[in-house]
This record gives sequence, C-alpha cells and structure tokens, in this order.
Amino acid sequence: MKTVIANWKSNPNTTREAEKLAGAVEKSAAANNKTKVVVAPPFVYLPTVGQRLRRAVLGAQNVYWNEGGAYTGEVNLAQLKNLGVKSVIIGHSERREYFKETDEQINRKVLSALRFGLEAILCVGNKEKMANPAGFVNKQLMADLKGLSAKDGPLKLVVAYEPIWAIGTGDADDPLSAAQVSAKIKEQVQKINGASKVRVLYGGSVNGVNAGAFLERDEIDGVLVGGSSLSAKEFEKIIKTANNFG
Ligand code: 13P
Repeated sequence: MKTVIANWKSNPNTTREAEKLAGAVEKSAAANNKTKVVVAPPFVYLPTVGQRLRRAVLGAQNVYWNEGGAYTGEVNLAQLKNLGVKSVIIGHSERREYFKETDEQINRKVLSALRFGLEAILCVGNKEKMANPAGFVNKQLMADLKGLSAKDGPLKLVVAYEPIWAIGTGDADDPLSAAQVSAKIKEQVQKINGASKVRVLYGGSVNGVNAGAFLERDEIDGVLVGGSSLSAKEFEKIIKTANNFG
C-alpha cells in the first residue's frame, strides 16, 4: 500500500477553505481504499479537519517533545494525540531553514513522537543538486535518528526524501535517482535501528502528472505533497495514481 501525504504548509487562510478541502480529500481517500492518505493541516485547523476525516488520517506539521508545561507557543505530543493526530511531520526543510531547527532538536522530536506512539515522518534532503545525495542524507539520518533502537520498532517511522532544490520549483527529482536514494535510506535506517525496513516517501514538486513515475518504483513507498495538495482535483489524481500501485 502506498502512502500519499498532504502537507498544506501555512495554508489555507480560512477555516471554511480548510473544511472544504478536507471534505474533498476524505472523499478521494474513501474511493481509493488501497492507498493510505494523510492530511497535515496547520495546527489551528486540526479539530475541524479531524472531524471531516474518516478513512484519511490526521497529521500535523510539527510537534514539541514535552507533554506540557511553560513552553510558550509550542504544541505538544499529548495535545496532538488527544486531537486524533496519528502522524507528525518532523524536520521539514522549511523548519530547518527558516526556523533554525537543529538536528539535535529534530532528533528529540522524532524519538519522543515514536515513544509516544505517533508516526514520525522525518524529512531529509540535500539543498543543491549533487552527485551523491545519499551520502549527505546518511549524515542527516545519523544525526536525526541518534539513539533510535530496535525497541522503537517495528517502526512507526517514515522517512521523506525531499531534495530542497525540488521543493516548490516544478523541477521534480529524477524518479530513478529518488528510488536509489530511497533504497540507501532503507539500508541506512536498518543499520541504525537494527530492525525493520523503514518506509520512504519522495517529496518535491509531485503533481498529478509525474506522481506515477515515483509511485511505480518499489523503493518508493509514497509521496509527500505540498503545492498540489492544495487543489482537491490535483490531489485526487495523485491518490488515484497511488491506488493503482496499492
Ligand atoms: P511541493 O510539493 O510544493 O514541492 O512541496 C513539497 C514539500 O515540501 C512537501 O513537504
């Protein structure tokens, strides 16, 4: 079964729009039940979107590792879980770049989310095109998964390979290259964790036209979608495509 995740980022601007989009995604998810669909809206829409989802799964875009306390502006693991959130995106390149999240913080988030029973979707990826992206990604994995042990498995961990140069540019990675990096990620996580094979998604300018070229690859377990997840029609195309490989 392939996974298709909608990362709405800081969109839309109104609850009404969020409600409408969530309703449409739920419809597509229900009609394509060989695909796992996750919707990760901004925090403020989690209750509303959660109410609209049945078959599709509620996700979040970030989390704070503590369960409560004096941490102004943060949203914690317990709060997400109590709202019905099952998956949380961690270490997205936009959080690393604009909000200066460090590997150390990302590591704490991943480990605490997993130990709290949430699915952690760890994002990794190289900034510029390079000859050996897997080498760069390996270093990120070593730092972000430090301390991960076999007892944290069978892993609720998902790794999203998102080359930064491909995000929001319309210039998606070559599917073969993305598949090769995905295979290396699986090997690397197995080495770190000593246990199960991790699921790896591709993200970066995925749309209704190119999704199939990624999803048809066995090494790629799904896609993490930004811009195209904001159009109900475009996102439905991606879900339908994924369902052919379910
Ligand atoms: P785009 O699909 O807009 O390139 O964004 C990808 C992404 O960052 C998903 O997390």
